[in-house]
Amino acid sequence: MQTFGQVLSLPKFEFMTEKDFVPVQNLEYPNEGIVGWKAPSNIALVKYWGKLPNQIPANPSISFTLDACATTTLLKFKRLESRGNTFSFDFLFEGKSKATFKPKIITFFERVSSYLPFLKEYHFEIDSSNSFPHSSGIASSASGMSALALCLLEIERRSTPGMTPYHFRKKASFLARLGSGSACRSIEGGLIQWGKTASINQSSDLFGIRYPFEVHSNFKNYHDTILLVHKGQKTVSSTVGHGLMKDHPFAENRFKQAHQNLEALRPIFKNGDLEAFVKIVESEALTLHAMMMTSHPYFILMLPNTLEIINRIMAFRKETTIPICFTLDAGANVHVLYPESEKGKCIQFIQDELVAYCENGHYICDRIGNGAKQFSPVP
Ligand code: PMV
Repeated sequence: MQTFGQVLSLPKFEFMTEKDFVPVQNLEYPNEGIVGWKAPSNIALVKYWGKLPNQIPANPSISFTLDACATTTLLKFKRLESRGNTFSFDFLFEGKSKATFKPKIITFFERVSSYLPFLKEYHFEIDSSNSFPHSSGIASSASGMSALALCLLEIERRSTPGMTPYHFRKKASFLARLGSGSACRSIEGGLIQWGKTASINQSSDLFGIRYPFEVHSNFKNYHDTILLVHKGQKTVSSTVGHGLMKDHPFAENRFKQAHQNLEALRPIFKNGDLEAFVKIVESEALTLHAMMMTSHPYFILMLPNTLEIINRIMAFRKETTIPICFTLDAGANVHVLYPESEKGKCIQFIQDELVAYCENGHYICDRIGNGAKQFSPVP
């Protein structure tokens, strides 16, 4: 796990390319088996918004890995009599067959098939469930795609005894990215950075890395209370939103700003400067939504209650000087971030003043977590 409040030893800098993730030929894969992984969601502090072909981010991002919001996936695999022309799988979501999820999985399988060449040799039964309610408006693609990527890679690991934990983590993140960009930040715990940027040598467009610099103990156990303002489907998907950054009039400046914000965060993480942290995090959230509002076509995902909550958080911070702040993902829900030391006062404030703006008063208490975990499935 990432250690907060200590100088981290810098991981060895290795420049990995796509080729490093193609397995060696003629591996002896097992005939059948069952694997299970639980992978968390994450919340971006510097937002990924805009992409190039092959799920390459247009700008670098950084996120807190979450703990409570997670997807658990059980994967059963059985070798087919002969290699198929298509992918053979059943998908169960919370115990029920879910045909609407299948096209996304087929696209994922297509994208990863040269890195997991055994896919067409098996029939898979994928059984997934989320710790958070399906209709909570929380995107499950990050946790869902990372859990699936980990399960599939586990099959390769069983046939490759020499695979190092480092390679396993990098390849899992690489594969998850091909399912959903932000999913590559849901493998390891703590602070995860993704996307090449000059101020971080080890950074890569291909996978997430643990933030390689010093992180102050102020960020240990950081809290994220997710206020569920709107639990339905959002009106514009992230895929469409990313696409609209292509001809966006402010794209170039926005991408530049993400690099600058990442660099600016380095002394903030080191010194535990929460006042400066709040400014970057809130500005990133509003910039993300400003990009949506200035795309062509433009769209708005915030709702009146989103703004009400934001205004109340800012007023409470001004009044108390407690470094509580908000961030948003591509939706109306609000993530309320605060340090462990202010937990009591912040929860009280949330309950007294903010919960009234949540759909049916619902919210989820989450915090920074330790990353994905394997479990031994009961067959
Ligand atoms: O991973 P995607 O394609 O669902 O995009 C995620 C985009 C944001 O959640 C808005 C930002 C981010 O960095 O997670």
